[in-house]
Amino acid sequence: MAATRLRLDKFISNATDFSRSQVKHLIRANRVKVEGIIAHDPGLVIGDDAWVCVDEHPISKPVMRYFMLHKPAGVVSVTRDGKHPTALDLLDEPRPEQLQIAGRLDIDATGLLLITDDGQWNHRVTSPRSQCLKTYRVMVAEPLDGGIIGKFASGLWLAGEKRRCLPATLELIDNTEALLTISEGKYHQVKRMFASLGNSVLRLHRLRVGGIELDSTLEPGEYRALTKTEIASVNTLD
Ligand code: URA
Repeated sequence: MAATRLRLDKFISNATDFSRSQVKHLIRANRVKVEGIIAHDPGLVIGDDAWVCVDEHPISKPVMRYFMLHKPAGVVSVTRDGKHPTALDLLDEPRPEQLQIAGRLDIDATGLLLITDDGQWNHRVTSPRSQCLKTYRVMVAEPLDGGIIGKFASGLWLAGEKRRCLPATLELIDNTEALLTISEGKYHQVKRMFASLGNSVLRLHRLRVGGIELDSTLEPGEYRALTKTEIASVNTLD
């Protein structure tokens, strides 16, 4: 894999117990070297394989973290919230403030939630340009009939949008449940897709994002680190 690029202050704070503001002080005090040269800019962008020293001690390459959480209902996909438990509250990891959620789920939705401190990887998961496929198991209020498969495939119009949705794949499981695969991540997209057809979503469970499938051994609220293969399955953007 090509070296990930990140800011010098982030590189050091990821790899040590120094906070970003402490790192800025170290840099101002000329205590940080990059490739043997004193660094002056905390925002300097370097590869994650750069040779960085603090007080002449090499800092090990920061290890980026990637997790999948089986998100339960009632938990919000934001890093901080005064009212509800957050997805990050369910993780027992150091430096939680550095973790980001790669693709939110609504408070009532369940299933696969990806969490990382690698901003570039997060961008590859969530950028509209990557058209990363997401599969949801959906339970709806009104009976489904085979006729709507074509409507999803030809691109639904959502209220308030200027363009049609990209084609989506709907597979019926029974008359109120289906698997839906979409390649976008518009706000409340799945609920709005069914609403555009006069139906409403009662349950929404995310099973897959790109090549990453929710581990069926994870109970709601449990999480695990992603494997190297899962991490690499998120394509690079050109
Ligand atoms: N679409 C929705 O409507 N909600 C989600 O949480 C994810 C996709």
